[in-house]
Amino acid sequence: MCGIVAAAAGKNIVPVLVEGLKKLEYRGYDSAGLAVISGASIERVRSVGRVAELEIGSANTQSVTGIAHTRWATHGVPSERNAHPHVSGSIAVVHNGIIENYESLRRDLTAQGYVFTSDTDTESIAHLLEATLKREPDLFKAVQITCRQLVGAYAIAVIDHSQPGKVIVAREGSPLLLGVSDTGNYAASDASALLQVTRNMVYLENGDIAELTATSVKITRLDGTPVERPVHVSQLSAAAVELGNYQHYMQKEIFEQPEALANTLEIVGGSKSIQPGIFGADAANLMADVDSILILACGTSSHSGFTARYWLEAIAGVTCNVEIASEYRYRTSVANPRQLIVAISQSGETADTLAALRHAKSLGQMKTLAICNVPESAIVRECALRFITRAGPEIGVASTKAFTTQLAALFLLTLVMAKVKERLTPGQESVYIDQLRHLPVAVNKVLELESDIEVWAKRFADKHHALFLGRGRHYPIAMEGALKLKEISYIHAEAYPAGELKHGPLALVDADMPVISIAPNDQLLDKLKSNLKEVQARGGELYVFADADSEMAESEGVHVLRLPEHYGELSPILHVIPLQLLSYHVALVKGTDVDKPRNLAKSVTVE
Ligand code: M6R
Repeated sequence: MCGIVAAAAGKNIVPVLVEGLKKLEYRGYDSAGLAVISGASIERVRSVGRVAELEIGSANTQSVTGIAHTRWATHGVPSERNAHPHVSGSIAVVHNGIIENYESLRRDLTAQGYVFTSDTDTESIAHLLEATLKREPDLFKAVQITCRQLVGAYAIAVIDHSQPGKVIVAREGSPLLLGVSDTGNYAASDASALLQVTRNMVYLENGDIAELTATSVKITRLDGTPVERPVHVSQLSAAAVELGNYQHYMQKEIFEQPEALANTLEIVGGSKSIQPGIFGADAANLMADVDSILILACGTSSHSGFTARYWLEAIAGVTCNVEIASEYRYRTSVANPRQLIVAISQSGETADTLAALRHAKSLGQMKTLAICNVPESAIVRECALRFITRAGPEIGVASTKAFTTQLAALFLLTLVMAKVKERLTPGQESVYIDQLRHLPVAVNKVLELESDIEVWAKRFADKHHALFLGRGRHYPIAMEGALKLKEISYIHAEAYPAGELKHGPLALVDADMPVISIAPNDQLLDKLKSNLKEVQARGGELYVFADADSEMAESEGVHVLRLPEHYGELSPILHVIPLQLLSYHVALVKGTDVDKPRNLAKSVTVE
């Protein structure tokens, strides 16, 4: 999704803007641009395509004040004229989000004589601000007045060449934070863009507006009331967002999973028992009379929820439903104040999940828990309880380590709920905790399958469709495998619970349709084997991920890879890893843009 970087400093800030945009590339974009104050004018450079092209285009540009942007097209095609910044008179604006009343603003402004040169909603902000400056010449106040007329979600950054040396930023609904330092002050969509200049971050709240100069930061609400926001020292390491020796972020993140899991599970410490307190100080109190759970999430995060449903009902005996956030927010549902709402999100900024959470709260469902990888994100801040997965920054659009750490967090939730419901003996608890502790080692062993999976991946190069099968708690893992494959290799993939095959999808099976099956050694293995026979009988090519001790033989059209050990309830965490590796290597064979697949954004901050 769009990314913003802005700077006011005592030295040339163009390299900071460009480097910041590079760090935001992972969010997804199709064009980029920057504008700086250059004497008595605005100098603007825009390009369609990569930030590297913008870097070349701006090589001779220098300034101490500027704004920059990566655009992910919503209103208007990706093109130079639609790329930000948008200019009106002496000002330039970049914007992340969607302005819902842009059509009426555009009509009014056109009637006033403004000429629009793009199809974007953002250009309305530029002209509206320019019109406002005629009545209110102070830029800070003019931006306040302008923002009060905007309906929708936005994070904006503005410069004005007639008021040099300052950048005004504002946020409502879209992420924006400040980076403060002795040598300059900055703003960006996320901290990774600013680690190059500072670790001191100030998270703006919705409705905040800030004025940055090289030596000062002023924050008010939109009505002008001054506010103080605390400075957080970011724990993100710059190395965490570097590629290192890996070819792609996705590959790096797949291989970081043992460490990400170890970090996430560190909270359990050396204890043989876990307490509700790991979800927040008030968790014991809040969970005491929970009678059911509703998980809200999108995409990969929803798959962790669907997996957890099996755990929560089987181990904790708590009814659990999972809803795709974008559907839940618009349907009429029956509110239950005793239900625990669990919002799962890697980024914590996904517009649909945030809106679904707010919708649940508006229905009086106030028992809320965020499972999230970004501590200061909107979803975390709006939930009563929180569990922060410690996966580290996830840059690749395809979610990998965020998913497995979410699963670990959800398993901890299962154990806590089982304890609250008195369904867990100390002995069982201690066995599960030992299994959790052993997970990083087990994941490491699964990663050793990479070279075998690479061989399989070559056979997918000419395929247009694939079917993923799983049963029970591995069905959501099949869904995740299908999503990974389609997202980065553009091969159409669907997931089915294996028992559903004969109810329709079997009609699709032929020699051109690879069927990938998750076959752990559990109570459903024999049933699964019968399902696989159905595929084999139709000439389908089977790729089976079995456990070391599963009785699964290779034969004509049946390829088997074995995971090193059977991992009981936690088996989904191991079984998703070969599927991540398979998608990654198929994408490599197909030559797609692994980390930035077409049409997709990392952080989906618009509806
Ligand atoms: O940041 P979130 O976890 O809320 O994002 C939700 C989805 O957009 C995300 O999981 C998406 O499906 C991934 N690209 C999948 O790899």
